[in-house]
Amino acid sequence: MNISESYRKSYNSLKKIGVKDPQLEAEVLIRHVLNISRTQFYISLEKPLLSIQEKHIDSLIKERLNSKPLPYITNHKEFYNLDLIVNPSVLIPRPETELLIDIAIDYSNNINKNNLLRVAELGTGSGAISIAIAKNIENSQIKATDISKKSLEVAKINARKNSVDKQIIFFHKSIFKPINNLFELIISNPPYIKTKTLKLLEKEVQKEPQIALDGGEDGLKFIKYIINNYFNQLSPNGSIIIEIDPNQKDIIKNLTNTLNSCNVEFYKDINNLTRAVQIKKTTS
Ligand SMILES: C[S@@+](CC[C@H](N)C(=O)[O-])C[C@H]1O[C@@H](n2cnc3c(N)ncnc32)[C@H](O)[C@@H]1O
Repeated sequence: MNISESYRKSYNSLKKIGVKDPQLEAEVLIRHVLNISRTQFYISLEKPLLSIQEKHIDSLIKERLNSKPLPYITNHKEFYNLDLIVNPSVLIPRPETELLIDIAIDYSNNINKNNLLRVAELGTGSGAISIAIAKNIENSQIKATDISKKSLEVAKINARKNSVDKQIIFFHKSIFKPINNLFELIISNPPYIKTKTLKLLEKEVQKEPQIALDGGEDGLKFIKYIINNYFNQLSPNGSIIIEIDPNQKDIIKNLTNTLNSCNVEFYKDINNLTRAVQIKKTTS
């Protein structure tokens, strides 16, 4: 069998189970097995495959047909133009989370660049948010936490791979035990899905760690705690940035009414859905 034939066979199998972009996924899986670039792939379509390569491709397609997400098969995911290692112990970073980085960069552009920007990330997973901030905000010094030791291992590898390991300290710590420091920026994409909705999620999403998704009965367990307990850990003019579900906007607006001296702003993601809230402290 040559590459072209394997490609056709693979994308037809993926198409049957309703994969959104079967051609692209088939190409990515074959390139992953052969370790070749996109250009090499398209100029080698007539090249015959070794039987071991053919078997390897078939076994990966089988995993994909069993709803294993593509990034867990290739162990790679791009986030904010960075290449990150992912595996089933971490949530796959989502394109909508890139919004949080845009807001953080914008915030950092409006403060004194000569001072250190002290950042806390709550629930770092693969390290995506902290690493993107470290790469794009030069004066940032980040403390990143997670309850999952396995995800912290992945995050540390990603920080090293992207040469920002000196800017980030990773802690094994629960969000429900705040770090005793002041920060200019506290940022989080916490679990925010209602427990009873978890079983209704797409099969693929159900392959991701439940602990990364489960936001408790009302989906707001983490967000409420962060708003109520981390606002006092902001330095003067500091900011909290949290990813949210679009349906949580009004409740969150009400929650912030209990805070003294703050400005609250909501932001929309690439799909035009409210996806983030920024709570800015307005006095010392
Ligand atoms: C939605 S994921 C976000 C991961 C990553 N920051 C991202 O945006 O791709 C939430 C993360 O919070 C972590 N987490 C869950 N419960 C936690 C807790 N009590 N304390 C700290 N982290 C927690 C999970 O392990 C997971 O990595």
